[in-house]
Amino acid sequence: MKKILVTGGAGYIGSHTVVELVAEGYEAIIVDDFSNSSAQVLARLKSIICREISFYQGSVSDKEFMNRVFEENHIDAVIHFAAYKAVGESVQEPLKYYENNVGGTIALLEVMKENKVDHIIFSSSATVYGMNNISPLTEDLSTSAINPYGYTKLMMEQILTDLALAHSDWSVTNLRYFNPIGAHESGLIGEAPNGIPNNLMPYITQVAVGKLQELSVFGNDYDTHDGTGVRDYIHVVDLAKGHVLALKHNLENKGVAVFNLGTGIGYSVLDMVKAFENVNGVKIPYAIKDRRPGDVATCYADASKANDILGWKAEKTLQDMMRDSWRWQSSNPNGYEG
Ligand code: UFG
Repeated sequence: MKKILVTGGAGYIGSHTVVELVAEGYEAIIVDDFSNSSAQVLARLKSIICREISFYQGSVSDKEFMNRVFEENHIDAVIHFAAYKAVGESVQEPLKYYENNVGGTIALLEVMKENKVDHIIFSSSATVYGMNNISPLTEDLSTSAINPYGYTKLMMEQILTDLALAHSDWSVTNLRYFNPIGAHESGLIGEAPNGIPNNLMPYITQVAVGKLQELSVFGNDYDTHDGTGVRDYIHVVDLAKGHVLALKHNLENKGVAVFNLGTGIGYSVLDMVKAFENVNGVKIPYAIKDRRPGDVATCYADASKANDILGWKAEKTLQDMMRDSWRWQSSNPNGYEG
């Protein structure tokens, strides 16, 4: 049985990926420092997969700790999620982001090299397409960044690419996610942001559950079908399944591969509000506000490369995403707390 180290495995996407890895016969070992996740996730994962998961609490930046993890386990590949992800915070505290995201990745790669593990799947983002590209976005488009968070993703992709160019034994897979939403259908794991959510879907569900009063819609004068921003929302379980297929490809191929993981379909903010209301029968009060700096009008994937090469395609519908997001939020109004 192949052993896969999942950094950030207690986080939103990481925890869903652990479920799919185990379902496909891999052994998952989680490393997480709980900086943006909860220890509760481990018990929830155990209920879903009906077995204990190996877990180490610590930071990927701590090389002594990470060396111990590698020495105690014969690891075949790493899926690297552990990183900070709040765009606004990255503008306020750039050093924190560069140190944790870029520094943490370099430390992880050094430990992998010392332990002769040369397979890595990296959690990148559609943010690397920057402001200037036109949807649908293909993997060969130029990349750029407009905030420190985006720069860290670009830098980490570059570091991994350079490593694979320098050492032909390495297998690197950069996965560019679009907008993950939804939750496991058990309602046991889901997205639990710290404080007021930055992203649309958790904001909608927190309005629905009565924790927040109304949604601010950031701009209704974009060049889109209803004036509000259009994004490619993808169910987190589809995304997690994409990681398992990317892992299989990574284990069988050397060099660098880059894949978009999105649905290829764009929905506006108001489409999302209406879909949530229709599927769940809960009203979402909203007010139109100014545009949020740094937002593009439209961002959706050309997801054909992942389909052609990995045999992966997002299967869940917008209705599934709405239903599962609400099941998670309504049965866990305070996330993993309480
Ligand atoms: N939006 C609102 N109100 C809110 C939150 C968001 O109207 O309270 C709008 C945004 O303006 C945008 C859309 O909803 O039009 C989606 O916004 P999100 O913040 O949910 O997602 P983004 O597309 O801005 O960002 C996401 C991830 C980033 C990643 C990016 C890649 O959060 O980490 O996708 O494209 F970099």
